[in-house]
Amino acid sequence: MNAQEIRNAYLKFFKDRSHKVIPRALLVPDNDPTTLFTGSGMQPLIRYLLGEKHPDGTKLTDSQTCLRAMDIEEVGDNRHTTFFEMLGNWSLGDYFKQEQITWFFEFLTEVVGLDPNKLYVTTFIGNSKHNIPKDIDSAEIWKTLFAKHKIEVKEADIDTEEAGAIRGMNPGERIFYYGEKNWWCRPGKIDNMPIGEPGGPDTEVFYEFDFVEHNTEYGEKCHPNCDCGRFIEIGNSVFMEYVRTENGFEKLPKQNVDFGGGLERIAQAAIDSPDMFKISLLWPIVKELERLSGKPYDSHTNSMRVIADHLRGATFLAVDGVKPSNKEQGYVMRRLLRRAIRFAFELGIEQNFLQDVVPVIAKMYEEDFPEVKKSKVEIIETLVKEEKTFRQTLRKGMREMHKMGKSGKINGEQIFTLYDTYGFPTELSTEEALIQGFDVEADWRKQFDSKMKEQRERSQTAAKGTFKGGLGGQKDIHKKYHTATHLMYESLRRILGDHVIQHGSNITEERLRFDFSHPEKVTAEQLKQVEDMVNQQIEKDLTVTFEEHPKEYALKELKPLGHFGDRYGDIIKIYRMQSQDDKDPFSYEICGGPHVDNTGHLAEGGKRFKIKKEEASSAGIRRIKAVLE
Ligand code: ALA
Repeated sequence: MNAQEIRNAYLKFFKDRSHKVIPRALLVPDNDPTTLFTGSGMQPLIRYLLGEKHPDGTKLTDSQTCLRAMDIEEVGDNRHTTFFEMLGNWSLGDYFKQEQITWFFEFLTEVVGLDPNKLYVTTFIGNSKHNIPKDIDSAEIWKTLFAKHKIEVKEADIDTEEAGAIRGMNPGERIFYYGEKNWWCRPGKIDNMPIGEPGGPDTEVFYEFDFVEHNTEYGEKCHPNCDCGRFIEIGNSVFMEYVRTENGFEKLPKQNVDFGGGLERIAQAAIDSPDMFKISLLWPIVKELERLSGKPYDSHTNSMRVIADHLRGATFLAVDGVKPSNKEQGYVMRRLLRRAIRFAFELGIEQNFLQDVVPVIAKMYEEDFPEVKKSKVEIIETLVKEEKTFRQTLRKGMREMHKMGKSGKINGEQIFTLYDTYGFPTELSTEEALIQGFDVEADWRKQFDSKMKEQRERSQTAAKGTFKGGLGGQKDIHKKYHTATHLMYESLRRILGDHVIQHGSNITEERLRFDFSHPEKVTAEQLKQVEDMVNQQIEKDLTVTFEEHPKEYALKELKPLGHFGDRYGDIIKIYRMQSQDDKDPFSYEICGGPHVDNTGHLAEGGKRFKIKKEEASSAGIRRIKAVLE
């Protein structure tokens, strides 16, 4: 069965068992400000798992499109994608373990035709602190099912939580008990569950690629949850029957089942391929990339995987109405597209190619998702338009590079400029240099890394907000200019784009000075737009406050402006400039302060923000001087 057939067979299987097939939710969740994207099948159904009555009854099934943008950098190996489909079936207080486990096993072995010898399962080991028993019921059901196929079943406690070690598996073992890995709740860990949060033990099925050798870098011995690539999880049945209360864990009034299975992964198992990109919902994209580039997948695997994944994700975002922008979902979409275009350079695809690839993607989905068919023309238009814009920046970079190469070679500092201002991956610069016939300095990498480090330090300095040598004093006027700098930085990004990154800031009693990356002169019209935007925010009397958050959480979840990786302390301070009437802040930037407490102060004495000068500071860096007058 190919992936499309598996999806349809799954929905039919559960429909035949009196489930109602419900439509997928959009990738952009409604009314859920806590998350940018729908990342699992249960996310749109959480209210019903908590007890609200679902209009379609107590047995539901669907295939939910999901996007996990956190995984962008991981794409390129044989099994990570940002976009995927999660097959789901739910019992809202209806059937429970017996039916769920039996049905899923039946689906995998009888419908998809997987060899039961290659299936391994995991269940919950129990938690003595919270008084939750080991899930032997699930294990018993699994035993009976495997026994029907005359498969030996030994059980093993593999995650000896109390002993603090995971041991490897031994011959004959098929059911494995783990701790946290087999407890499912939204916060991830049982101890992080707030009062009122539901959760429960789960049982997962893994498929074994028995020809993949265990890699001891991941541990001495393999086991289902080992990351070496021999095992892949293909489905998770969550038995949501607990809720955390003041008095500890109690049973919910109803026992629910929340099942999620990765369609792409089941399809991989069906063709016994550790490489997900070989399945029928990705391979046609790879084939098209081979055709366009004239290069084989085998020698350009990583680039083709990144492009295939990113364009598929961006296409579905377009289907769901997202447009490339510098904010939120639009920003993730822009990143996906730009990364795909950059990687295409590595295949030698330098011309526009989305008009060829996007129709291939649409074709794989349009039969099963009518919305894809309906919006096809529009989707292609949106994506092609973004490609054209980005290619202009790339072209400017190429011109800049050719100028740099006139001396016969380029160095690490220049490669950094190309990277920082024009978005050139370093491989693109070094390869292009070879093609153009000029040398790359032998120690370019060292220079590049040192410029990168300098840039990080600059942003760190800005983040500490001491504006060392930047903020020339602590008078009220310095604070006003500092606040104006944040407003201007955000305005520049909104008007010119997200390639605008702060490179330096200096404040005196007379003016602010601000350096930032941008490949060309800022036009008079754009400067006027920036001025107007800043003055508008001043007039809106935005309240200026700050919050402190643990760094890791803040960088990942809150996405403030000014994050350049790993150089901040453990706690970072984020300044928020926001009107009482708006849902989102205008400016949200890592900084140590100080600032005025309301942007309205900047207009005291009838003053207005005015840009006095815009000029080049160094290659690809512009400098603005501005005043309040
Ligand atoms: N809610 C479960 C998951 O996302 C099925 O893995």
